[in-house]
Amino acid sequence: MNAERVLKQMAKTYKIAVMPGDGTGPEVVAEGLKVLNAAERKFGFKLEQQNFDFGGERYKRTGETLPDGAIDELRKFDAIYLGAIGHPDVKPGILEKGILLRARFELDQYINLRPVKLYPGVDCPLKGKGPEDIQFTVVRENTEGIYAGTGGVLKKGTPDEVAIQTSVNTRKGAERCIRYAYKYAERVHKNSPWRGLKKEEIESGLKSQVTLVGKTNVLTFAFDLWERAFHEVGKKDHPGIKRDYAHIDAACMWFVKNPEWFDVIVTDNMFGDIITDLGAMIQGGMGIAAGGNINPDPGGVSMFEPIGGSAPKYTGQNVINPLAAICAAAMMMDTLGESEAAASIEKAVMELTASKIKSLAAGRMGFSTTQIGDLVAERVAGA
Ligand code: IPM
Ligand code: MN
Repeated sequence: MNAERVLKQMAKTYKIAVMPGDGTGPEVVAEGLKVLNAAERKFGFKLEQQNFDFGGERYKRTGETLPDGAIDELRKFDAIYLGAIGHPDVKPGILEKGILLRARFELDQYINLRPVKLYPGVDCPLKGKGPEDIQFTVVRENTEGIYAGTGGVLKKGTPDEVAIQTSVNTRKGAERCIRYAYKYAERVHKNSPWRGLKKEEIESGLKSQVTLVGKTNVLTFAFDLWERAFHEVGKKDHPGIKRDYAHIDAACMWFVKNPEWFDVIVTDNMFGDIITDLGAMIQGGMGIAAGGNINPDPGGVSMFEPIGGSAPKYTGQNVINPLAAICAAAMMMDTLGESEAAASIEKAVMELTASKIKSLAAGRMGFSTTQIGDLVAERVAGA
């Protein structure tokens, strides 16, 4: 074999750190891996998996969230596949900060990517809206804002207690997130003008739209920075994309009333956290909502997860919906460059929501967790 072929084959092996985590995490991750295994054979790549037991159980046993050296260990992988973090016996905040937020910050996963797509056959709580109306993506800044953890407390526990928690917004942080959103809009909508653009906008060469969601009327320091970066970068480097703006409160209203107005949304960490849960609900719930914590820089390690949490009450019953974890696995393959495999997984999911799967709610799918995994894997293998 010549060197080029050896390199090509090597490039097709991906090292994946698997963190099943707590509650139903391990059950849904197993189904995601089952589907990836089918995709591996079909699309000719290989996954090298290594399991990590980070999560609530380990914390209870050892008092450690992420042990020393864990982050450096994770840096050696091409991607991380995460189930869920959260344990009923562990005080809120410990695992979230110690594992999830630490990985986001230390691996500089500065994008939180959340596609909001209503798949065919999925019940939508919005009256009169269908799959063609709910198809957008939220690009949430994932390392700054209020999440940065700056601030402090004075006179704790006294009537004079003061708590300050400030939002950190850097030009660099906002700008790299905004650039990612424009590039994403360009890549995803390259050959298909966005349905919401007006005829004359399409004729004038506009391809898609990015909406900045902020609060420029009140947060006049933070969102002034965002707004200037948004327009400067858009005008100079992405003139083919329409720029729009919505205040966060209005955006919540329009998610419900006119979700078809959105294409790609870019926003800060806290607003992004809130609107992506709203987004998950209008796309059919936590059973289907997947997210990526992405470091798009060369050599960056990204982490993919179903956003639904550990669902302790359903643990071990084989009733939880694994589709969100399966969709997160598809996003992971897309980010790794295996877009054909990713598209095939998504197509299989869409075929099943349109035909066999009754509901996305745990216990009401008409199938068990493992059966859903089998159905998707079969379709991917036979695709
Ligand atoms: C999310 C989650 C996390 C967040 C929590 C678990 C820390 O809600 O990924 O959206 O707030 O970012
Ligand atoms: Mn959240």
